[in-house]
Amino acid sequence: MRTSVRPRRTTSSTNYRSATRPPPRRDRAVVDAPPAAEPIESFRIADGHTLSLRPIQPEDADALRRAFSRLTPEQVRLRLFHRVNELSREAAEQLTTIDPATTIAYVVVDADGEIRAEARIHIDPVTDSAEFAVAVDPSFTNQGIGRRLMERLVEDTRRRGLYELWGDVMAENHTMLDFMKRLGAERRAIPDEPGLTRVHFRLGKTRSTPRTA
Ligand SMILES: CC(C)(COP(=O)(O)OP(=O)(O)OC[C@H]1O[C@@H](n2cnc3c(N)ncnc32)[C@H](O)[C@@H]1OP(=O)(O)O)[C@@H](O)C(=O)NCCC(=O)NCCS
Repeated sequence: MRTSVRPRRTTSSTNYRSATRPPPRRDRAVVDAPPAAEPIESFRIADGHTLSLRPIQPEDADALRRAFSRLTPEQVRLRLFHRVNELSREAAEQLTTIDPATTIAYVVVDADGEIRAEARIHIDPVTDSAEFAVAVDPSFTNQGIGRRLMERLVEDTRRRGLYELWGDVMAENHTMLDFMKRLGAERRAIPDEPGLTRVHFRLGKTRSTPRTA
């Protein structure tokens, strides 16, 4: 039986809840530089592929659309909470053209430049928190890519001095929920959304008093 989940608002192609809040105040001096295209790290996975992890680039839009088309319908539902047949060009361009003040996004690419995983955080300075999302090509799952990406996102969030990294996970997504628990995340229910579980990493900083917009 499918759990009923209220779809997210789809006004933003990023589908981030935190993206619906008022425009954040930003310390532009710290984060204005666009991320470099060079690989941050290369690594070999169990099936023999050598992959590279790097920041997402505007030029990745077409590759991101192809990567999206390789996800299974179930993966798309687990990632976006509703069914989507394809990633539109507009959405791909929005997802690949990031504002470094509010977004950190990575892709893992193979030797042909095809995107095999994508992960990102959207930072909300109002709450001193960041929301994460991650997806891995179904042919490349269970080989440590998701863990590598999540550990990097946790570290990035910590380095930005934020209070918390969080994400909403469908209740039936046991792979992700169990994985997050092993990574150190806590869980909390989301009022009125019984089909979702919020997982969150407390990163040490004391939450600041919310600022008014
Ligand atoms: C969840 C997801 C990102 C995991 O990516 P991955 O590359 O397979 O992750 P890893 O190989 O690093 O595995 C992470 C952990 O999950 C476990 N795992 C992975 N696939 C599993 C499976 N099919 N069954 C059970 N456990 C599994 C691994 O054993 C690993 O455990 P660890 O804690 O010992 O490291 C991937 O399955 C995915 O893209 N799912 C669809 C999108 C989604 O659910 N996103 C989360 C909401 S934003």
